Amino acid sequence: MDRIDVALLGLGTVGTGVYKMLQSNQDVIARRTGLLFEVKHILVRDPNKKRKVDGVKNLLTTRFEEIMATGVDVVMEAMGGVEPARTYIERAIRSRCHVVTANKELIAKHGAELEKLAQEHGVQLLYEASVGGGIPVLGTLQHFLKANRILRVSGILNGTTNFILTQMGEHQRSFEEVLAEAQRLGYAEADPTADVEGFDAAHKLTILSRLAFGAVVPVDEIARRGITDISPAELELAHRLGYRIKLLAKAEQFGEEGPVALQVGPTLVPLSHPLSGINGVYNAIHIEADTVQDVTLVGQGAGEQPTASAMVEDLCNLFRLPLPRPLSYRRPLVLPVWEE
Ligand code: NAP
Ligand code: HSE
Repeated sequence: MDRIDVALLGLGTVGTGVYKMLQSNQDVIARRTGLLFEVKHILVRDPNKKRKVDGVKNLLTTRFEEIMATGVDVVMEAMGGVEPARTYIERAIRSRCHVVTANKELIAKHGAELEKLAQEHGVQLLYEASVGGGIPVLGTLQHFLKANRILRVSGILNGTTNFILTQMGEHQRSFEEVLAEAQRLGYAEADPTADVEGFDAAHKLTILSRLAFGAVVPVDEIARRGITDISPAELELAHRLGYRIKLLAKAEQFGEEGPVALQVGPTLVPLSHPLSGINGVYNAIHIEADTVQDVTLVGQGAGEQPTASAMVEDLCNLFRLPLPRPLSYRRPLVLPVWEE
């Protein structure tokens, strides 16, 4: 079996999830890809910090150059922020390593140029985890909606704020208390201002807009409002009037080749609309296109496992998959009863 050497940059919420999944699902991955992925190095800031996984002590380093000197096949970036992530990813690409990243801020701001650099060096840069946590939305746009004219992409793109609005609205908890819980659960960004002020959703919308319309919209061109001034009283009033307040993001194109408008902000969603029922850390992305008409993807939009899933799926997708080994089929003897 061929071995692929991996360097993991970051061992926080997402990096830990990636490391765990590569161990726990090694058998499935090997069966489906014919490959053995081995984490050779893990870059961290503080090698003495207590970690949530065992057996990593000897893999930890604080020196990216050391990783590049030994040579790996894939760099998986889960550090966050623009620098030094951008410099490290550029170095990896120039050294002909494939790159997988979860970093939406970086991809929103420099995705187009990094993708060009990767193409010039004959490697791939994949970033499914940067939008919608575990939801395969970028793959859907890139691989399954190539022939459609996309008209609009909209939905709930931030798990932290949806979690906060749900808990404040349904359980009358305070903003501060729920934000602290979102941080404990690993949903929030290192600086949660990015979540609650709508920057994170704006970064994701920029990425979606580039893939859907080919429009590279700078993040500061997006009309943006966060949720910090939404009070429990407003949530309650909205509910009494037949609405839920959701932080919605919307990108739409006006006419073929026409201008693209992007906006992020709290929105009154009628209780009868499917988006009003997307609660907690869940995200939903609605794609409207000329021929498929519409597709909605729903799933957990943040957190260790869903995000790790997206990164590890990207890792597997870097390599050509063999045909799966056929398994024998047995017809069920009784009809199952649907369980909620
Ligand atoms: P995190 O928990 O804060 O972890 C960041 C990790 O990166 C830590 O292990 C930290 O090292 C390391 N790190 C940060 N700066 C570094 C530097 N300059 N040099 C070396 N190591 C450095 O963050 P996270 O929640 O896992 O998020 C990571 C990335 O994934 C971000 O881009 C985020 O936007 C994205 N993302 C997160 C989620 C989510 O649900 N959390 C979902 C999708 C995408 P130490 O441990 O030593 O401090
Ligand atoms: N902080 C982000 C969120 C992580 O809450 O949606 C997932 O991108």
